[in-house]
Amino acid sequence: MERRTKIYEGKAKILYETDNPDLVIQYFKDEATAFDAQKRGIIEHKGIYNNRISSVLFEYLGQHHVRTHFVGQLSEREMLVKRLAIIKIEVVVRNISAGSLSKRLGLEEGEPLKEPVLEFFYKNDALGDPLINDDHIRLLDLATPQEVRAIRKRALLVNGLLREFLDERDLILVDFKLEFGRHRGQLLLGDEITPDGCRLWDKQTLEKMDKDRFRRDLGKVEEAYQEVYRRICSP
Ligand code: TMP
Ligand code: ASP
Repeated sequence: MERRTKIYEGKAKILYETDNPDLVIQYFKDEATAFDAQKRGIIEHKGIYNNRISSVLFEYLGQHHVRTHFVGQLSEREMLVKRLAIIKIEVVVRNISAGSLSKRLGLEEGEPLKEPVLEFFYKNDALGDPLINDDHIRLLDLATPQEVRAIRKRALLVNGLLREFLDERDLILVDFKLEFGRHRGQLLLGDEITPDGCRLWDKQTLEKMDKDRFRRDLGKVEEAYQEVYRRICSP
């Protein structure tokens, strides 16, 4: 499968058409951004790590009957996926308080949550991805109530599966972001699952092993991605 016309270039990935109208190629870049792209940088080899990490996680979810857009990994930086009409909602699932939840509700970072907390953000850079609820989703026609119910269920299922998988690799899944899309009438999990969009802490030391190292200038950013890659992708 070969890359054809570029469809879209995002902050961390480029999408290309293929000769099959149902399939596109996701190309993973090393570029990293944070805070609505006010902060920019390069994390060496990130694209290679993230492509592999995401491929392994999508494959694992697929084996557990979660429908995703993943078709296969094509090369170090290329993933073949089903073409989606992306639903403009960023679905965040949290197990431990951190980031914007800590800020919004005044919770200490690292506080375990009684049960997983699910949040929706409107995927709109110009507005800074604001927090939204079901009524806003209906108002903006982002998804049908039936889709929202399916997204909630699917996101919590993915949380349970990923937590277990990562725990076996000494990683705590603090929180993460998912995106869903429509493909030929089906709701599929899309985008990527990588340390760019997940908070992962080392189970023993609680050291941050994700993009927070870049966001907060904690150093050893590439090393953290490489270690997550090693734990998730080593046979
Ligand atoms: P938050 O605490 O900043 O709301 O982030 C929650 C999770 O969502 C965290 O794991 C990082 C991820 N995330 C993204 O993938 N993209 C984003 O633009 C933001 C703000 C967060
Ligand atoms: N990727 C997002 C941005 O560039 C934010 C983040 O992940 O912190 O703004």
